[in-house]
Amino acid sequence: MNQVADGEIVHFDNVGLRYGTDREVLSDVSFTLFPGSFYFLTGASGAGKTSLLKLLYLAQRPSRGMIRMFGADAITLPRDRLPAFRRRLGVVFQDFRLVPHLSAFDNVALPLRVAGVPEKDIARPVGDMLDWVGLADRKDARPATLSGGEQQRVAIARAVIGRPEMLVADEPTGNVDPEMAIKLLRLFEALNRLGTTVVVATHDVHLLTKVPDSLIMRLDKGRLSDPTGALRYPPRRSSTPSSGPLAGPLSDAPL
Ligand SMILES: Nc1ncnc2c1ncn2[C@@H]1O[C@H](COP(=O)(O)OP(=O)(O)OP(=O)(O)O)[C@@H](O)[C@H]1O
Ligand SMILES: [Mg+2]
Repeated sequence: MNQVADGEIVHFDNVGLRYGTDREVLSDVSFTLFPGSFYFLTGASGAGKTSLLKLLYLAQRPSRGMIRMFGADAITLPRDRLPAFRRRLGVVFQDFRLVPHLSAFDNVALPLRVAGVPEKDIARPVGDMLDWVGLADRKDARPATLSGGEQQRVAIARAVIGRPEMLVADEPTGNVDPEMAIKLLRLFEALNRLGTTVVVATHDVHLLTKVPDSLIMRLDKGRLSDPTGALRYPPRRSSTPSSGPLAGPLSDAPL
């Protein structure tokens, strides 16, 4: 897909957000995301992580400030250009938002079908992806019959299947056990190595240490801090493959 010429995929300048007439839930938020990097967005419950991600996946407009994304002004973007922008994003919602009347398989297949991938080229990648997230035997199940962790894995599979330019994931491991959390992180890393910019919001501080080359953004009551310098310096453009006991399963990743 189109690469961004000036070396940034997203830029926030002095962004503020308030819902209705309440106080601001995000204030003076400025940062740049660089293509191919892996970011964690951390902060306490209520700090504004989901609110910031909503701005990133264009579900919400800020109350003030400037947002550039994929080389365009995201705030004044005409409504009819929004769907094309959204197709460049993979989103894992904190509350999953699976399509209730579709099976796990059809939920995961959705982005490929929307992108016009021929039906004959859908079964294999979707099957492989469901297998990778441990749901091969639940592919015909409707979301309502899946556990929270299973729904979360379907949501993740759906977000990554189309290899988006940017993946935005909101507490994507909040409902799975620690072993599965690591496995899902490996999936994000594999996608990242293929060039996707990854933004994962989490309040699980243990997760942050699991991706060696990740950059950390921290929100505290709606204000951003910069513990690793991620927001000041252009980070490396690609990470080296991780080694050790978890390197093996990566080669089986369906990406
Ligand atoms: N739609 C809304 N209308 C009004 N206030 C909201 C709305 N959504 C969030 N807020 C408020 O904005 C603040 C930030 O909420 P947000 O959901 O962004 O936090 P968070 O960091 O994602 O929290 P968590 O870790 O619990 O998911 C909170 O004070 C919350 O009450
Ligand atoms: Mg949240």
